[in-house]
Amino acid sequence: MSSSQTNWTKSSWKDFTALQQPNWPEQHAVDKALTNLATLPPLVFAGEIRSLKTLLAKAVTGDAFLLQGGDCSENFSQVTAPNIRETLKVLLQMSVVLTYAGAKPVVKVGRIAGQFAKPRSSDMETIDGVELPSYRGDMVNSSAFTKESRTPNPKYMLKGYNMAASTLNLLRAFTRGGFGSLQRVQAWNQEFVANSPMGRSYDRLAKQISQAIGFMETIGISSETPQINQTQLFTSHEALLLQYEEALTRQDHITGNWYDCSAHMLWIGERTRQVDSAHVEFLRGVHNPIGVKLGPTYDLDEVKKLVESLNPENEAGRLTFITRLGMKQIEKVLPPLLREMKREGFNIVWSCDPMHANTYTAKSGHKTRNFNDILSEITCFFETHWSEGTIPGGVHLEMTGNNVTECTGGAQNIGDEELASNYLTSCDPRLNAEQSLEVAFQIADMIRS
Ligand code: PEP
Ligand code: CO
Repeated sequence: MSSSQTNWTKSSWKDFTALQQPNWPEQHAVDKALTNLATLPPLVFAGEIRSLKTLLAKAVTGDAFLLQGGDCSENFSQVTAPNIRETLKVLLQMSVVLTYAGAKPVVKVGRIAGQFAKPRSSDMETIDGVELPSYRGDMVNSSAFTKESRTPNPKYMLKGYNMAASTLNLLRAFTRGGFGSLQRVQAWNQEFVANSPMGRSYDRLAKQISQAIGFMETIGISSETPQINQTQLFTSHEALLLQYEEALTRQDHITGNWYDCSAHMLWIGERTRQVDSAHVEFLRGVHNPIGVKLGPTYDLDEVKKLVESLNPENEAGRLTFITRLGMKQIEKVLPPLLREMKREGFNIVWSCDPMHANTYTAKSGHKTRNFNDILSEITCFFETHWSEGTIPGGVHLEMTGNNVTECTGGAQNIGDEELASNYLTSCDPRLNAEQSLEVAFQIADMIRS
């Protein structure tokens, strides 16, 4: 038996401190919702989770690249076919750009179909002298600033499960049913992107791919293969609400191992990654690929303990470190981390989250991020890995396929004064489709082989 299984049960996290959990008003209703969830079918299967792990193992050695992205926080009201389709489209476009440049597979993981719970800096929020519980994501409460909306409601966990199920159902249909086929690579260019410089660059690339497929067909090689006419999008979210995650945790009949079947990949946030936390305890025992966010104040000894706890067998593909250090600090704080992990010989997928330490408040009062800061952190991430002899294995982005105005800069050069025109996020600001594609082209320039 591996040490990751020693003394672990899907409930053993309850003996540890769980930060960022809702204060449910009524225990009876919570128990009812959890009992219900525990009997519902898994959202993903162990076999799929194992496939993702195998692909991520390739990102450890630089033989694949991880593209993880989606909303900061999904909203129930935004779970619609157009929104799901647009997010998928832009992820597929970015993936094509990166695959073509890097000449290696891109592992696509959405922050989707379950990203409904958020950590907050404070339990309570005060507006005009009125104090109410903070909004913790649609799986816990609602964002409107009224007592009724902000009171946590355990039924939202069931609603979250159902929303995740319908999102996944559509994603599976899109990715398996021809929508994700490389033959449609030109059709993925969204209208508002198609008329932009990024859209035109994308279109040129898409034409080259279409010509290559056409050439294959001309010489008699069929394009009717899954490699061309299907794609795969894995799901992920922050494993924050441990009661929900426990209820979706199931034992695989083939291997006897436990898997958290709420998503393929789960990550632990910056605020809940203490070595002795309930979140680390819970995730050490499930066999999914696990991400851990690492901010600039990480402690090297603690990080080593995290690796020993979460990946005692040093299995490649099990552990992804998602660094979110900030463009000002990355140059100073990333090298010692990379050196130490390399010295220890730990197998890690290194992914760059250039979003979470580059947030600021615009003059207009909006929470925003500047495109150039995001790009600076990504560039420094790649350059630092190259100079340290480690592998830049992926990126983790907050993004959407819609034409939002939430991050400043980019090819459209969105200014502070334009943020209000289409600022839709209920949590952190996201790159819009064009800004996302621009990030992909910039990374493509760096990794072109
Ligand atoms: C997030 O990914 O939305 C988030 C809250 O990140 P972090 O834990 O890195 O702050
Ligand atoms: Co966020």
